[in-house]
Amino acid sequence: MTTKNADIISEITRLKKQRNAVILVHNYQRSEVQDIADFTGDSLELSQKAAKTTAEVIVFCGVHFMAETAYIINPHRVVLMPEIEAGCPMADMITAEALLARKKELKNPTVVCYVNSTAAVKAESDICCTSGNAIQVVNSLPDQEILFVPDQYLGQWVAEKTGRKMQLWPGFCPTHMRIMPEDILKLKNKHPGALALVHPECRPDAKAAADAVLSTGQMMRFVRESKAPGFIIGTETGIIHRLKIENPSKFFLTVNDKAVCPNMKSTTLEKVLWSLQDMRHVISVPEDIRVRALSAVERMLAIS
Ligand code: 13P
Ligand code: SF4
Repeated sequence: MTTKNADIISEITRLKKQRNAVILVHNYQRSEVQDIADFTGDSLELSQKAAKTTAEVIVFCGVHFMAETAYIINPHRVVLMPEIEAGCPMADMITAEALLARKKELKNPTVVCYVNSTAAVKAESDICCTSGNAIQVVNSLPDQEILFVPDQYLGQWVAEKTGRKMQLWPGFCPTHMRIMPEDILKLKNKHPGALALVHPECRPDAKAAADAVLSTGQMMRFVRESKAPGFIIGTETGIIHRLKIENPSKFFLTVNDKAVCPNMKSTTLEKVLWSLQDMRHVISVPEDIRVRALSAVERMLAIS
């Protein structure tokens, strides 16, 4: 660690205490940001953590929809994002207006909304899901037409696993599109003992080439419990940091080193410090939207 980073970290630690803040960090964040976390996890684990925290301030190191979800659950706490421009291109592939139009066309289907979406889209949805609980969420629904938004690839996989007929919104994650089946197969040939784990946001052919399809939190648990010596990882590369720390005797290969989410990487240690110094950037959602979005988030949390 550089002296500069050590100074920043000690100031973050001091301010965190003074502000009564908790730092929640997604598995895709920069390694040095993961290292100052009070809790690191996937989007489900982070929203569960946010629901239980007693801290006055939540510093959310992730992307906008994650901090928004923390606020939806915690309107009485201050939710800060160190980098306000950290959005999610997939979340921006659907608007509340477009969703309303599609609901009308389909004559009011049950809308399952991946948490990678804005609060306004959640407000028009019946229930949320994450990649860690999407199958469970869909299985809990009555036998009625389902519209799954906005990730077509997560939706396609859930439809396959649950046997439910689902209408899919044509959204996708540009980072996970970089994970190609031929790269997985090449690595599997070269390292026959290694297991390939991919995220459900990957293309169907990449998922078919893998040994398991898991959310980032599920990958952490799978690797911990597996006897395999090594793993081929098909998701954003940030997760490798924690995998290596928690499993020092196992080896990890990325399917594609370029599977990097620029939004996830835009939060830096300096920005976390400035966030605590200046209490910025404060995340909030208009109350009428928050209340309707909360009902979709709470329905998800209740069955997770
Ligand atoms: P997880 O829910 O697995 O953390 O994934 C979040 C995400 O943004 C994947 O691209
Ligand atoms: Fe959005 Fe993909 Fe980045 Fe996740 S990895 S935040 S889905 S762009």
